[in-house]
Amino acid sequence: MIRDAAREFAQNELLPGVIERDEKQHFPDSLVKKMANLGFMGIMVNPKYGGSGMDTISYVLVMEELSKVDASAAVIVSVNNSLVCYGLEAFGSEYQKQKYLTKLATGELIGAFCLSEPEAGSDATSQKTSAIDKGDYYLLNGTKNWITNGGRADVYLVIAQTDKEKGSHGINAFIVEKGMKGFHVGPKENKLGIRGSDTHTLQFNDVKVPKENRIGDDGFGFKFAMKTLSGGRIGIAAQALGIAQGAYELALKYSKERKTFGTEISNHQAIAFKLADMHTEISAARHLVMKSAWDKDQGKNYDTSSAMAKLYASKVAMKQTVEAVQIFGGNGFVKDYHVERLMRDAKITQIYEGTSEIQKIVISRSILKE
Ligand code: CAA
Repeated sequence: MIRDAAREFAQNELLPGVIERDEKQHFPDSLVKKMANLGFMGIMVNPKYGGSGMDTISYVLVMEELSKVDASAAVIVSVNNSLVCYGLEAFGSEYQKQKYLTKLATGELIGAFCLSEPEAGSDATSQKTSAIDKGDYYLLNGTKNWITNGGRADVYLVIAQTDKEKGSHGINAFIVEKGMKGFHVGPKENKLGIRGSDTHTLQFNDVKVPKENRIGDDGFGFKFAMKTLSGGRIGIAAQALGIAQGAYELALKYSKERKTFGTEISNHQAIAFKLADMHTEISAARHLVMKSAWDKDQGKNYDTSSAMAKLYASKVAMKQTVEAVQIFGGNGFVKDYHVERLMRDAKITQIYEGTSEIQKIVISRSILKE
């Protein structure tokens, strides 16, 4: 039912304006409201905090269907669910849940997750953003880059260094509200893909963050980020899966309509074999994504399975969207047929929430310590 609801919404509501939103870099404001009404902004959050109370498998099904049509809308959902709502529900105080989670889960507010910096994207412990303990509040200074929902968000989870000497143990996560004095939203990035999403640089100049807005015990920020990102990687793996599946479905349909040399191109083995590879690899990716979601739902450790799902699904998305463009030939190179956008959107899934190389670090460390 949840998959069908997401599919129907994607086909009826996301599809009509998706080319224009991509071209003009328009954030889908009214569509985010509709997704909120469907419960997609807080899918896994307990209903007592305003969420839909569903599991990670349901979340993955929604992410795949949205991403088949509009990966930009999907990443707005993913960041709000995985990085912001999950982070607050799992590790926030009751005060923080009542004040922020209840509104983020219903989509009344939008959230952003701020870890990356000009010199700390992959190397996440090298945070330059600092938060100095001033008694009742922390004084926050620094710059964050590549922040999804950066301009549209109301609530920002900001990772900052509080004690340089302590390395990863001297990092904390803070809840920062838009409108706090000294918080500035910088320019919007002009991106290759997911152009309908809103990516900004953020600046913090002597922002006073109340003590009660620190998440967890002092020094918990790095672990908070790592644990939250593990779940985020399941969402991005599902996004990659959806992008690949969307391109495959379009290519399959087109191959049965387009004729060359007197027959539909699907009758040429060169095309049929591409479709066979696409279907096989996308199915394998789906198994990894579902396994990781299942691990999380079962309360098992999902750090490695989410890294594997993201690594493989993003690779398949990139490879198979290129193949879809090839099947469409010249038509694949123009915007009306959607596959060129899916190809551009696929690339980010190999970069954000940890590059493919970071996923390999996570996976290889886990194999080697076994
Ligand atoms: N869960 C809990 N704790 C964890 C953990 C996890 N998954 N991963 C690491 N830790 C703990 C370690 O156990 C260690 O704790 P102790 O010191 O107590 O033993 C501590 O954290 C430090 O760990 P490491 O020594 O492994 O840290 P590292 O510096 O070697 O980094 C890394 C490991 C995996 C490379 C990590 O830096 C990483 O994941 N980097 C990528 C970050 C990332 O994904 N950035 C993307 C930005 S977010 C984004 O894209 C959002 C968006 O808007 C879409």
